[in-house]
Amino acid sequence: MSKFTVINHPLIQHKLRILRDKNTSTKDFRDLVNEIAMLMAYEVSRDMQLEDVEIDTPVAHATVKQLTGKKVAVVPILRAGLGMVDGVVKLIPAARIGHIGMYRDEKTLEPARSISVKLARQILTKTEVIVVDPMLATGGSAKDAIAALKNRGAKYIKLMVLVAAPEGVKAVQAADPDVDIYAAALDDHLNQNGYIVPGLGDAGDRLFGTK
Ligand code: PRP
Ligand code: URA
Repeated sequence: MSKFTVINHPLIQHKLRILRDKNTSTKDFRDLVNEIAMLMAYEVSRDMQLEDVEIDTPVAHATVKQLTGKKVAVVPILRAGLGMVDGVVKLIPAARIGHIGMYRDEKTLEPARSISVKLARQILTKTEVIVVDPMLATGGSAKDAIAALKNRGAKYIKLMVLVAAPEGVKAVQAADPDVDIYAAALDDHLNQNGYIVPGLGDAGDRLFGTK
């Protein structure tokens, strides 16, 4: 079974509290999503591989560490996942950025099937892929996104979300035991409309000011 990690850092928890508040403005919501994504990326990248390299400091010759050449790709699930990309890229500037187009049908709660992955197969097979989406509710969108990436050759995938429901975590762990999941919070449950409770509402609408 894959790992599920809640990143309990006080800064993340404080920012998440503001994000959840229904009175938070679109601008603040957008800024906070990126800030939390950046802080989470610090933890999600903790197992990145390092190698020794020889350099000269102004004082001496030294053997120091640098990241190995392994590339990272950030793949947002559209549309709300877009809100997390800049934050991750601030921390990992060399990351490739892919996109997965998909949306959840509000009635059936199923992700709509026309999924497009905008990232070349030869990149996907070699990179560590961090899939980002603020919400993991039923898990349907994340599972379909991961399946699409695996179909295109992705081998090393992590899922990073802001708020997860127990139902979504269970669904992704069952479908993808090789994909570790990172969240800023594990909430209580899903309501009858598939919204996370207490959650933060519709992440896409709050990010883009569409309702
Ligand atoms: C939201 C959210 C996830 C999905 C989670 O997107 O950003 O992608 O729902 O729900 P699930 O776990 O039950 O699949 P939505 O489909 O509302 O599209 P949007 O990003 O365009 O708002
Ligand atoms: N998608 C959202 O944007 N919010 C939820 O609570 C569930 C799915």
